[in-house]
Amino acid sequence: MGLAGYRRGANSSQEINPATATRDVRLRKSLSRFLLPRHSVFLDQMNWSARWLETVRRYSNCAQFAVREKMYSHLNGEYLGDGKKPIDYLEFGVYEGRSLAYWTALNAHPDSRFFGFDSFEGLPEGWNRENPVGSYNAEGKIPQIDDSRVQFVVGWFQKSLPPFLVSHRPKSPLVLHCDGDLYSSTLCSLASMDPWIVPGTLIIFDEFFDPVHEYRALEDYAAAYMRKYEVVAATRDFVQAAIKIT
Ligand SMILES: C[S@@+](CC[C@H](N)C(=O)[O-])C[C@H]1O[C@@H](n2cnc3c(N)ncnc32)[C@H](O)[C@@H]1O
Repeated sequence: MGLAGYRRGANSSQEINPATATRDVRLRKSLSRFLLPRHSVFLDQMNWSARWLETVRRYSNCAQFAVREKMYSHLNGEYLGDGKKPIDYLEFGVYEGRSLAYWTALNAHPDSRFFGFDSFEGLPEGWNRENPVGSYNAEGKIPQIDDSRVQFVVGWFQKSLPPFLVSHRPKSPLVLHCDGDLYSSTLCSLASMDPWIVPGTLIIFDEFFDPVHEYRALEDYAAAYMRKYEVVAATRDFVQAAIKIT
């Protein structure tokens, strides 16, 4: 028997045997004292990289593009009626509005709706060495996008999503664009949006390449909410990727 989990007692299929659990915990404590006394981000990264690579290998035949704008056009044409049908597009992480503005131009249907979520104060935590806390701080400035179909929901996703969802009613096929960079921000947006996510929902990840942030959030969301997905498109080296809920 291994160390994973607290095993059930020998005479009962339901009860956890406290003596076995205690022995497991003590053994695990001694092992980590000698082998790995502190949590290792590096080991997390290595382990999740292996998992990321498995996903990338599984979907190596998906549609691939040199740049993200070409991937967006492909998604709009292949899955979203090429602008002839309305969509509900929700972007988590807007900053200066480049990707949001691109999508409004791509999907010109008058009934499409575009929601941009952002604090406009930058990342709430450090993402990596190059992007510390506060990176992408727009000093509270909301982008000027001259399109009445666009609405901004200002604030931290963790605070702004619950009240938004109280009154939000989906109207058209949903497209989610996760560009909050962080594990916490991405997991929060996916979990919050879960009631509206259905088979066929497209979700774009702008930093799919980072195994311990957006990718890990997707995997943890899928496990926690019993979701399955397939990768339908990616940019070179799976830097960005789009998945479809199946
Ligand atoms: C890389 S930028 C977005 C870039 C934009 N989508 C583009 O392509 O031009 C990341 C944005 O996510 C926002 N962000 C990250 N986590 C957030 C959170 N938990 N709540 C609100 N905004 C968040 C930051 O403020 C930042 O503007």
